[in-house]
Amino acid sequence: MPDPTPTVEALDEPAALEELTRLAHALAAHDLRYYQDQAPTISDADYDALKRWNSAIEARFPHLVRENSPSLAIGATRSESFAPVTHGVPMLSLDNAFSDEDAAEFDARVRRFLRLGDEVVAYTAEPKIDGLSASLRYEDGALVRGATRGDGRVGEDITANIRTLSEVPHRLAGQGWPKLIEVRGEVYLGHAEFAALNAAAAAAGDKTYANPRNAASGSLRQIDPAITAARPLRFFAYAWGEVSARFADSQWQALAMLRAWGFSVTPQARRELGVAGLLEAYAALEAARPHLGFDIDGVVYKVDRLDWQERLGFVSRSPRWAVARKFPAERARTILEAIDIQVGRTGAVTPVARLKPVSVGGVVVVNATLHNADEIARKDVRIGDTVVVQRAGDVIPQIVEVVLDERPAGAEAFVYPVHCPCPLQTPLARETTTAGIETVVRRCTGEFACPFQRIEHLRHFVSRRAFDIEGLGVKQLMAFMEEGWIGEPADIFRLARDETVLDLLRARDGFGETSVRNLKAAIEARRTIGLDRFIFALGIRHVGETTALVMARGYGDVETFLAAMDRIAARDPEAMEELDAFDQVGAAVIEAAAAYFGEDHSRRIVQALKAELTIREAEKPKSDTPVAGKTIVFTGALERMTRDEAKAKAESLGAKVASSVSKKTDIVVAGPGAGSKLKIAAELGLTVLTEEEWLAMIG
Ligand code: IVH
Repeated sequence: MPDPTPTVEALDEPAALEELTRLAHALAAHDLRYYQDQAPTISDADYDALKRWNSAIEARFPHLVRENSPSLAIGATRSESFAPVTHGVPMLSLDNAFSDEDAAEFDARVRRFLRLGDEVVAYTAEPKIDGLSASLRYEDGALVRGATRGDGRVGEDITANIRTLSEVPHRLAGQGWPKLIEVRGEVYLGHAEFAALNAAAAAAGDKTYANPRNAASGSLRQIDPAITAARPLRFFAYAWGEVSARFADSQWQALAMLRAWGFSVTPQARRELGVAGLLEAYAALEAARPHLGFDIDGVVYKVDRLDWQERLGFVSRSPRWAVARKFPAERARTILEAIDIQVGRTGAVTPVARLKPVSVGGVVVVNATLHNADEIARKDVRIGDTVVVQRAGDVIPQIVEVVLDERPAGAEAFVYPVHCPCPLQTPLARETTTAGIETVVRRCTGEFACPFQRIEHLRHFVSRRAFDIEGLGVKQLMAFMEEGWIGEPADIFRLARDETVLDLLRARDGFGETSVRNLKAAIEARRTIGLDRFIFALGIRHVGETTALVMARGYGDVETFLAAMDRIAARDPEAMEELDAFDQVGAAVIEAAAAYFGEDHSRRIVQALKAELTIREAEKPKSDTPVAGKTIVFTGALERMTRDEAKAKAESLGAKVASSVSKKTDIVVAGPGAGSKLKIAAELGLTVLTEEEWLAMIG
């Protein structure tokens, strides 16, 4: 395995391409062994390292990202939150066609294979919906299970989430359905619903989704079905998997039956004869595309007769009887008028191309992403250039290339700013991953002091795992910031004892005596706080809850912690070594701490906050419990508590919680659905406990 250290910078383009190809194959093979055979040959940690290495290369060479990149594969995300489901019949993929010639070749192949001579073949032509496929199992007409595609053979059990979709019947309507049928189709989100979901997320200060497909995927794979239920996901049925009896003679008839049983079937589906029909259907769908209200990325042609489908069968992983004719990415030419640098809420800066408005496939485009400084240099994009803009898969428009012939005389190469456009004008730093790999992303290091990042930092500061201030969400934070009442964490505590502001608040719409009293009490309740939460709440990059706890325990009290941070900011080797020796702390954390406490603004903000608080010393880990010093791995579902609770409890008893099983593991706590980790534990002869046994052990 390649060592995922900063060598990504050393890769040139051909080497990166070769490496990405190799990784795609390696990861796919590991996925198969993991899902299908339940017998992985590498540890989860090594698997994750491969994935990170893949992402690091993709971040540096975004144009090399493969269409089937392991980082994009929804199926390939390993999740322990959903139990694995083996599909009765595998969920396969489709071959692609890109032109009229490809469509004609498909028809010719079908006729050759079936030895039909001049006989004209009937096909269905259905929109290729850009969502994610799901398989719904019905027994005696009742929905018993919903599953994601996964790797095609083994998906994830998402029954609870699937049941929340209004277009998925819990009982099949009508008659004629087989005793057992797996109905297959696409879960997707309409354009209007997508826009509303993102608008609500933006207003609440949450992450927005790049496109409807990602939003649908994120919504469907929620642990809490209540969240899925709140998202207006839709479902189109178009195929089936395992069936106990044949129920139709043709695809066209099958679609009609699916409709009769209560499913939505795309109204744009057509039945066509021969190549001419295929081409006509494609043209009609292309014309209808802007008005559908949901994303499609092509048309799926299927041989209509099911007996012919059976004879045609499959080649490797796709049927011979169907093909996906993809729409080309939509492109247009326009003038690049300016390049602006935007600061995101995490401090990442992104160059944005401001374009002379142009219509790309029916949508007026005025901005396009330029990704990062490297990308601008690679494409040599200059202000005044004529550029080709592309909108693919309805994602953010991109600049494909510069039309060099039309470059105006005197156009100069773009000089990327070295300072953040925020009022602090901090020097821009290259972002590193937790593993210490430099990425192409540049960041403002102003953190709390940068006005663009402030809201994100404050949101983190009051969040449940940090200061956990009830009644103070993004909405209130934004409103209070607008009034100029708060700008940094200390202000929250000042506000709680500022009667003038509290009076103003009482007079505000939506606030009143009671809510002000509650808010004040919620803030006061947090004036005393543990050192671990204090550190976590500061929002130092790469310092998550666990690292914060480790640091709190290592330094003991706030004075020692801050003194050490000052020394780290000054790059005192002894202080850096001390921090490096802490469990789970590495170069990325040290660098982040040095950058954070190296900013005068940040140091002042932390001091002001400290002055408002009583910070409790860190609890020393317990050493007199049955699990003290032991390494525990939780796997499978827990029934009596959440993963987070179980982890916190174990840690409070002096145990260490790890995510993968190894020789160093002492105890594996396995719930229902535990997979490979349990198997490895058995092979290593480790102690495996049920949740009940675990609870009994820790009392
Ligand atoms: S039929 C044997 N019909 O496209 C394959 N697939 O690349 C049966 N898709 O995973 C699939 N719309 O998620 C079929 N009308 C449609 C479709 C469709 C979208 C997706 C599906 C599948 C992928 C195949």
